[in-house]
Amino acid sequence: MAAVRIEELNHLIGEEVEVQGWMTHFRSSGKIHFLMLRDGTGQVQAVIKAHDDLDPSGSNSWDGLEQESALRIHGLVRADRRAPSGVELDAQAVEVIAFSRDYPIQPKEHGVDFLMAHRHLWVRSPRQAAILRIRARIVHAVREFLDQNGFVLADPPIITPAAAEGTTTLFGIDYFGEPAFLSQSGQLYLEALAMALGRVYSFGPTFRAEKSKTRRHLTEFWMIEPEMAFCEFEESLVWQEQLLTHVVQDVLTYRQAELRQLERDTAVLQRVATPFPRITYDEALERLNQAGLALSWGEDLGAPHETALAEMFDRPVFVTHYPKAFKAFYMQPDPGRLEVVLAADLLAPEGYGEIIGGSQRIHDLDLLVARLRENEMNPDDYSWYLDLRRYGSVPHSGFGMGLERVVAWICGLEHVRETIPFARTLNRVWP
Ligand code: 4AD
Ligand code: MG
Repeated sequence: MAAVRIEELNHLIGEEVEVQGWMTHFRSSGKIHFLMLRDGTGQVQAVIKAHDDLDPSGSNSWDGLEQESALRIHGLVRADRRAPSGVELDAQAVEVIAFSRDYPIQPKEHGVDFLMAHRHLWVRSPRQAAILRIRARIVHAVREFLDQNGFVLADPPIITPAAAEGTTTLFGIDYFGEPAFLSQSGQLYLEALAMALGRVYSFGPTFRAEKSKTRRHLTEFWMIEPEMAFCEFEESLVWQEQLLTHVVQDVLTYRQAELRQLERDTAVLQRVATPFPRITYDEALERLNQAGLALSWGEDLGAPHETALAEMFDRPVFVTHYPKAFKAFYMQPDPGRLEVVLAADLLAPEGYGEIIGGSQRIHDLDLLVARLRENEMNPDDYSWYLDLRRYGSVPHSGFGMGLERVVAWICGLEHVRETIPFARTLNRVWP
């Protein structure tokens, strides 16, 4: 008999099945044992009438059966309204595939450092599995939206010769004796690819030597980066809000059980609908001043500012037209006001901060060279990128959505470390 997955059991009521997985709990009340089994798709309780035939060890004792033992259970599926999965299994035979001894993660509170050091096992917990299932669904929804809207997946390199997002967070590597860097963003390459394919996107790992220890920063994170030729700033905002709305709707539709597992309050997700409010950086400063979080013009928003602004709206909010001084060299200045750039950050509700950063790109060669110099960057390091402005340069825009921050917000998590299978942070590259 082929084993079935636990998530399929509620379609198999009244049938005899075989399930296989790992035991999470075992308790006994005299003649009946209750065994909880998980297989990655769900959990089910098996009810076992204590009986020699069911003895897993052949020694008349269930004592050897500890948490995380791998089992195959043959039994009858029975509807049970009280069970989270809606079913229970009346076990007829239990076979031990592999024993587990002294599993380090017990059903009690463990510290975060302990759990992160045991991340290879922690991922087995239903909560962590729910997060990773939501992450996978978000990836699916992003790709579905972009693929259906004419964006071509085009992968930029991960080993790069120069910075894309400032030199302070570069991870250097020794490339056969030459210095090279792990990619901070595929954007510069995507600009080249947009001139070849029109609308493109990349979805891959990016790296930043972030010295900051915050709940939003990883040193290795995944970014979705769409780039569009013949696309100006405003249109790019529309793509962003449509993409994010599609993703949220998709997760609400297809990952209800996981959101429940995480006890996520979905009201805020349900409110996500286009258009998102847009405020300029100048308006943001005014609002912050009124809220007692004064900033002077030209200062960047910090986490408390982003949180305070986001709280003023019932859905994600764009902050636009930032001073060019603290934004990237490639951003197009506003033609009507050269000290600000046609850039936007999308701030998520509930203190999750910036989940998307994007802009229109400079398409004029001389202006781009001047901006590189102002940023103390060497135009020679970017000669190929400058070529894009020599051969049919057109207005174009793009943005980068940080997958882990989107996962953290949709799941309602404290920290991005739980949003990725094996987080890389300032003080952790293990396991
Ligand atoms: O705002 P950022 O730095 O923008 C860029 O890299 C652009 N080149 C993207 C583009 O236009 N193609 O990063 C984009 C997003 C941020 O909004 C944030 O969600 C995420 O990437 N991000 C991080 N996520 C986790 N850990 C970090 N250290 C992150 N840095 C940025
Ligand atoms: Mg940014």
